[in-house]
Amino acid sequence: MNQQAKRAGFSSGFGVLAATLGSAVGLGNIWKFPYMTGANGGAGFLLIYLLATLLVGLPVMIAEITLGRRAKVNPISTMAQLAPKGRPWWLVGVIGLVAAFLIVAFYSEVVGWVFAYIVKAIDGSILSSDKRVTQAAFASLIGNPLQALLWQWGVLLFIGGILMLGVTKGIEAIAKKLMPLLFLLLLLLCAVSLSLDKASEGLAFLFRPDFSKLSAAVVLTAMGLAFFKLSVGMGTMMTYGSYFRDDQDIPLTTLRVMAADLGVSMLAGIAIFPAVFTFGFAPSAGPSLVFITIPAVFSQIPMGQALMVVFFILAAVAATGAMLSLMEVPVVIFHERLGWSRRKATLVTMLSLAALGSVCALSNSTLAGFKLFDLNMFELFDFVSSNIFLPVGGIAIALFAGWAWGKDNFRQAVSNQGRLQNAALANVLLFLLRYVTPALILLVMLKGLNAF
Ligand code: PFF
Repeated sequence: MNQQAKRAGFSSGFGVLAATLGSAVGLGNIWKFPYMTGANGGAGFLLIYLLATLLVGLPVMIAEITLGRRAKVNPISTMAQLAPKGRPWWLVGVIGLVAAFLIVAFYSEVVGWVFAYIVKAIDGSILSSDKRVTQAAFASLIGNPLQALLWQWGVLLFIGGILMLGVTKGIEAIAKKLMPLLFLLLLLLCAVSLSLDKASEGLAFLFRPDFSKLSAAVVLTAMGLAFFKLSVGMGTMMTYGSYFRDDQDIPLTTLRVMAADLGVSMLAGIAIFPAVFTFGFAPSAGPSLVFITIPAVFSQIPMGQALMVVFFILAAVAATGAMLSLMEVPVVIFHERLGWSRRKATLVTMLSLAALGSVCALSNSTLAGFKLFDLNMFELFDFVSSNIFLPVGGIAIALFAGWAWGKDNFRQAVSNQGRLQNAALANVLLFLLRYVTPALILLVMLKGLNAF
């Protein structure tokens, strides 16, 4: 049997959508999007983020999935297989592998915070709109080295366990069932938040652009978020693309994922900013923003405590879908390139991430003084992955799909061999991938990095 026939794939069209959405929706929506929007001035940032999503994130996502589906192997082999003979495009897969490690190292820490907040929500210690209470709870969690480490390692063990069950069963089943619930609970939170005193201030912050806050560095941050949000630029979507069925409409699926993903982010923003202004938190609080604000919103409603428990459980589920897709990249690469069993590949991935991740977990306590470019390790891993690795990967993927692979190959693959009759769309995509997307990424990166 050849390798392709052996690989498990997603079993249905809905499964594909749910799993891809499961990768995109995660702490990026609930944690990163609100705090970055808050720290970078609100609506102006949001606008740039939207543009980056459309002009950069979306085309790269479509390219990745298309390439992955064509080759039906891990990202390194996908690039090696589709590239013209002797060209080192497989390096793109290696960049993605490194990016996956960097991202999981800090992401697993934040997932650990979410799991810890399930416990805190159950014991009731954070149910308060007093910022001294919620801030102290967060500070004591991230400042305690043992707790930070144990939560993170627990998360890695948990995700590794799911991965060992295999692609279809593990990822699809979980993603499918719980996403709609998260959406509903966010809607409820929005309703509560919008009924608060200073709701209009929060909304104005989120929707009335103030361009005075924009700078090259902010634009780079917004673009980095667009990559991170859609899980593109590092082979995750290529890997998921390799599980796509041949009759799946890739552009349509991608568009739906993007729209739903954006919807969740917007709901999180609408749930958070009115409360931020009402309770006197700082919109620019940074990574703590969600963890101090959400409990305050729940403290305002009947059954708030029980609902808060549910909220953090659902946030953990969303984070799990994203983590699964992140760890799937190294696992499938080790499995297919090195011939290890999936179990061994998962174990090695888990253990090396526990080691690398510790550096991030301890960056708010034991290693707080250890900084490079004025960033602690948590911040550095986050910055370097989103603002350097993903954009570089994005340029390479765009150029590969647009130029190296061959226009006709791309057109054929993205239209399911002509069956979708989306020729005009394919041409627009090709134009973006060949010229607009790579040039924009390069420009934003160079200007943005210079400004830091
Ligand atoms: N898109 C995920 C989120 O927004 O939470 C994070 C992520 C998952 C980034 C998978 C990259 C990735 F490959």
